[in-house]
Amino acid sequence: MSWSAADIPDQHGRIAVVTGANGGLGLETARQLAMKGAHVVMAVRNQEKAAAALAQIRASAPDASLELVALDLASQASVRDATGRIMAAHPGIDLLVNNAGVMAIPEAKTVDGFEMQFGVDHLGHWTLTGLLLPALLRSPGARIVTVTSTAHHMGRAVDPANPHLAGRYGPWRAYGQAKLANFHFGLGLQRELAEAGASAASLVAHPGLSNTDLQAVSAQASGGVSQRFTLALTRRTGMTPADGALSQLRAATDPAAKGGEFYGPRYVNNGPPVRKPVLRRLGMDKAIAALWEVSARETGVAIDVRAATAA
Ligand SMILES: NC(=O)c1ccc[n+]([C@@H]2O[C@H](COP(=O)([O-])OP(=O)(O)OC[C@H]3O[C@@H](n4cnc5c(N)ncnc54)[C@H](OP(=O)(O)O)[C@@H]3O)[C@@H](O)[C@H]2O)c1
Repeated sequence: MSWSAADIPDQHGRIAVVTGANGGLGLETARQLAMKGAHVVMAVRNQEKAAAALAQIRASAPDASLELVALDLASQASVRDATGRIMAAHPGIDLLVNNAGVMAIPEAKTVDGFEMQFGVDHLGHWTLTGLLLPALLRSPGARIVTVTSTAHHMGRAVDPANPHLAGRYGPWRAYGQAKLANFHFGLGLQRELAEAGASAASLVAHPGLSNTDLQAVSAQASGGVSQRFTLALTRRTGMTPADGALSQLRAATDPAAKGGEFYGPRYVNNGPPVRKPVLRRLGMDKAIAALWEVSARETGVAIDVRAATAA
């Protein structure tokens, strides 16, 4: 039997934070968690879309317990502000889904001068996770799920000498780097948690090809041929957002899922969510170490599980 939303266990009493919950996979993730009884903190940038998303979830789950927190992952100050608000309201957090992202857009910089895709998809989530860690460690068996992509296979590990791809920018090169960073972040975080003896677990998920706004935003922003091709392919063959969200939902809620595991659709980019093998292990230790060094240096936030446990 394939795993489906019906397999999500009861979530009453759990606090979940979902980034990018105002559309696409984030909205469906928030919807399913809320329908199962979780209190969902929708950490989102576009507030107009957020209000519509909230109304949509309420239409399917009138009793849904939802909260909006403004979060722009392209601004480290905004991330800090959001974590402050979330922690003030919720001393313990059971689930963090690092979902928001941008794909294959023209070269741009975040407020802090980071390359936009690496800055939003990875560095924003690095800081968010690092600062929420004390609250995650306070909830027994908390989970952190980071959303990557099959595009991580074409990504190069971050180069500490040029993490923002100065003079080497390509929209897909930057996306590949960012999504490989998501993959390495999820696995590296699990190592840190295990070494510290924490009960929290970090998992990675990818949604295959899902018909969301991701490809449209990319094609519209860049006008590139490959971006338009990806949009057409997704429109024709992509899964619905609800089906695409199942891999991250399984990583987030399946009692049998464990830290360090990777979930994705059975048939590469389509199908029900299954556990996938963690490939590209050669050189992974070095790549994770480089990612840790770069991320701490660029953001000024260290991921220190032992210190966070004591906080
Ligand atoms: N769809 C696919 O086929 C596919 C395949 C592989 C991986 N993924 C991954 O799945 C995740 C979700 O994407 P999606 O398909 O649901 O795309 P989507 O419909 O375009 O949603 C992207 C979400 O990210 C948010 N976001 C973008 N920039 C942000 C920022 N600076 N600060 C805060 N939030 C920001 C967007 O919010 P705004 O509305 O405010 O911009 C939106 O909520 C991404 O990490 C993506 O890389 C998707």
